[in-house]
Amino acid sequence: MQPVQIMPKVYWVGAIDYQLRYFHGYLTPRGTTYNAYLIVDEEAVTLVDTVKKPFFDQMLERIRQVVDPECIDHLVINHVEMDHAGSIPSLLQVAKNARSFISPRGKKALERYQAAPDKLEAVPTGHELKTGKLTLKFVHTPMVHWPDSMVTYVPERKLLLPNDGFGQHIASPERFVDEVGYDKVLEEALKYYANIVMPYGDQVKGVLDTVRELPIEMIAPSHGLIWRSHIGDIVEEYTKWATHQTEKRALIVYDTMWGSTEKLMYALRQGLEDKGIPTVIRSLQANHISDIMPDVLRSRLILLGTPTLNNGMLPNMGEFLTYVKGLRPKQRIGFAFGSHGWGGQGARQTHEAIEEMGWDAPLPVLATQYLPDAQELEKARATAHQLADML
Ligand code: FEO
Repeated sequence: MQPVQIMPKVYWVGAIDYQLRYFHGYLTPRGTTYNAYLIVDEEAVTLVDTVKKPFFDQMLERIRQVVDPECIDHLVINHVEMDHAGSIPSLLQVAKNARSFISPRGKKALERYQAAPDKLEAVPTGHELKTGKLTLKFVHTPMVHWPDSMVTYVPERKLLLPNDGFGQHIASPERFVDEVGYDKVLEEALKYYANIVMPYGDQVKGVLDTVRELPIEMIAPSHGLIWRSHIGDIVEEYTKWATHQTEKRALIVYDTMWGSTEKLMYALRQGLEDKGIPTVIRSLQANHISDIMPDVLRSRLILLGTPTLNNGMLPNMGEFLTYVKGLRPKQRIGFAFGSHGWGGQGARQTHEAIEEMGWDAPLPVLATQYLPDAQELEKARATAHQLADML
């Protein structure tokens, strides 16, 4: 298990998790990495972040290839979530003299999760730590994506260590974005943003303002590949996502019981295609909710279809709406539709959920009883024309 020198004096010493498929509700078909970075300067050796607990030995072995782990002087804790902080107690049993640096909110959280290290210092934002030739500057980034979050910047190397920011869940033997390919990494960075960071767009905007003021030649996140190329591109994408910019395209998310809601769905899609609107269809029976979120992030128009079951929507739609409400996408046009036998509450409750999320809901629910007839399908197509004209 080799470390990788990512620039002079700075080494990747993290762990690769090829097995991970589920990350608190988010499917991760490509696995992930937990990236930790070792900075070996003339006056001090610093480890920035650790790894998930079961991977401690992997990290320690990589550190050992560079320095004796007992010689680590500083531990920087950018974030206390367990995928990064889980190995702190084990690390500090080896690096007995290390001083740890954390945000004040991080200190409070860490004290709840595990016995706080003896030499734990809460640092204010902007605090600088000299390690010899290099400086570590700590900038608090609360709610990107936990209250404790902070980033570490090394001005002499133009290196940003933003923890979860700019991360992606990809396990691979490569360490850099350009070795894997920008398009593949961007796809996972988008999925990561849509499923984890999206609720905090306003806070991300603040971080991006700070990032734009800094000269940056490398962004080394705590998951996935390291950005030494395409830095302007990924900052631009993050800016777009954080400001809720969407594309002129439609997403239809639906479930169906006996095919009637699905018939409505196809009529709506036909209407959108008539108007030249790129439209993605995601059946809730065929797609995991976390796999739909990249389409939610990109699409301005979102149509949600469900029949009525037991005076409500189908459970799949309830699960999807719970997830989407938590991730808080903004500035969308929403529309609800569905078939019913008698009550019709499913589509109506979906319409109410759209309004609760603060999306525009310019048209009433499209509801049909039992099987939609030709006239109702034509109405669905005309309704889609109206929605397309609003984009
Ligand atoms: Fe990768 Fe918020 O932990």
